[in-house]
Amino acid sequence: MDRRQAIASLGSFAVAGMAALGHGTAMAAPRRKGFLWGAASAAYQVEGNNTNTDLWLLEGLPGTPFAERSADACDHYHRFDDDIALLARLGLNSYRFSIEWARVEPEEGLFSPAMLAHYGRMLDSCRRHGVTPVVTLHHFSSPRWFAAKGGFENADAPALFTRYARTVVEALGDRIGWLCTINEANLSFAPNPAVRETAARATGVATFSTFLFSNVARSKPIVRQCRAAARDAIKQLRPDLPVGYTLAMDDFQDAPGTQARAARWRSGMYDVWLKAAQADDFLGVQTYTRTVIGDRGPITLPAETLRTQVGQEYYPEALGGAVRYAAAIAGVPIIVTENGVATEDDALRVRYIDGAIGSLRAAMREGVDVRGYIHWSLLDNFEWLFGYGPKFGLVAVDRATQTRTIKPSARHLGKWARSHPVLRQD
Ligand code: BGC
Repeated sequence: MDRRQAIASLGSFAVAGMAALGHGTAMAAPRRKGFLWGAASAAYQVEGNNTNTDLWLLEGLPGTPFAERSADACDHYHRFDDDIALLARLGLNSYRFSIEWARVEPEEGLFSPAMLAHYGRMLDSCRRHGVTPVVTLHHFSSPRWFAAKGGFENADAPALFTRYARTVVEALGDRIGWLCTINEANLSFAPNPAVRETAARATGVATFSTFLFSNVARSKPIVRQCRAAARDAIKQLRPDLPVGYTLAMDDFQDAPGTQARAARWRSGMYDVWLKAAQADDFLGVQTYTRTVIGDRGPITLPAETLRTQVGQEYYPEALGGAVRYAAAIAGVPIIVTENGVATEDDALRVRYIDGAIGSLRAAMREGVDVRGYIHWSLLDNFEWLFGYGPKFGLVAVDRATQTRTIKPSARHLGKWARSHPVLRQD
C-alpha cells in the first residue's frame, strides 16, 4: 500500500489566486542562529511499549491492520542518551522527537510529573550534546482515553489538546528549541470502518477515533482548531518559543503533455493547511516523493519506476518543489522536518540525500527561507502499518540485542552538516 495515496484532501479545488501568494501574516520570524541539520524520530515508533496509546490497542485487535506489534521498538525510552550522543557524533546539530501524550497524561486530567521529567532528561541530553531539540507534541498516537472520547472528532479536542500542550510547555518550554504542535495534520489513512468498529466494541464506547483512522470530514477541521488553540496558549506562556506544525506534502507535477492540472490538485490538497500556517512562526514540510497528474488525476506509475519499500516513487528532487509551494502560500520560514527513503540499499539513500538537498538549495537560491533539514529517520524503526520491514534509518537497529550500526548515509549527512554550517544557497 502506498500510504501517501491515502492523504486526505479536504480543501476546495479552487486554484490559488495570485493574491494568496506570498501573503503570510506571520509574526516576526524567530531568530535562531545557524542551520538545523538533524534526524527525526517519533515516540511511538522508537520508544517501545507505549501501551497506553490508542495504537497499541489497535495493534492487538483481531483483524488489526498492523503487520506486526511495535513491542520494544528501539527501546529508545531507555537508550535516548546513547542515541542522541550518536547523532551528535555524526555531526548533526538537531534532533526532532515527539512526546507521547499517553505517557504524560495517562488518564484524562491526570498528569505524570515523572513522565514530564523523563522528557526533561531527553532535553537535557540534547543540551549536553550540543543538539537543538525540535519537539513534536502529537505524532499520530494519542492516549486511549482520548480516542475513546472520539479523538479529534470530539468538539472538546481543542480544549483537551491545549491543556496537554500547556502542561508540557510549562514544565519543559525553556529547554525546547522549536515546537511542532501536530505532525502531518493533513494526513489520514484510507477509511477503515472495521478498525473503528472493532476498537469501539473492544473498549465499550460509541466511537473510538484515532488520528490515522478517523472520519476526516469531522476530524480535520477540529485538528486545525487544535493546532491553532495550542499555538495561542503556548505563545502566551512563551512568546519566544517558535511554534509551528508539520504537513505531509508531495511535489505535484504535470504529466508530459498535460498542463495546469497539477496546480489545481496541489492547491486543493494543501492550501487550506498552508493558509492555516500563516500565523505560525514556521512550517514543517515533510516530503518523500512526487505525485504526477494526468488528464484524469494521479497517473499510474510505469512498471519500470524505481519504488521504495513503501511503494513510493524514488524521487528525491520532490523536496525543492514542495518547499517552494509551501513557502509561497504559508509565507513563513520553512524547516524540512522529515525527508527520507525506505530502502535496504544504503547507497540509494546517499544519493537520495544529495538529490533532495540539491533541490532544496535550488529553492533557497530563489529566495525561499529554509531554516533546517531534518532527515527521517535517525533509526530503523516501527513504520506504522508496515511494521519493521521498511528501513528509513540512518542507523540500523538489531531489535534482539538493540545494537545500533551506523550506515554510510549517516556519515554522509554528517559530512553535509560539517561542511555547511549554514546551508549556503550557491
Ligand atoms: C511520518 C513518519 C513516518 C514517515 C515515513 C511520515 O509520514 O511522520 O512517522 O514514519 O512519514 O513513512
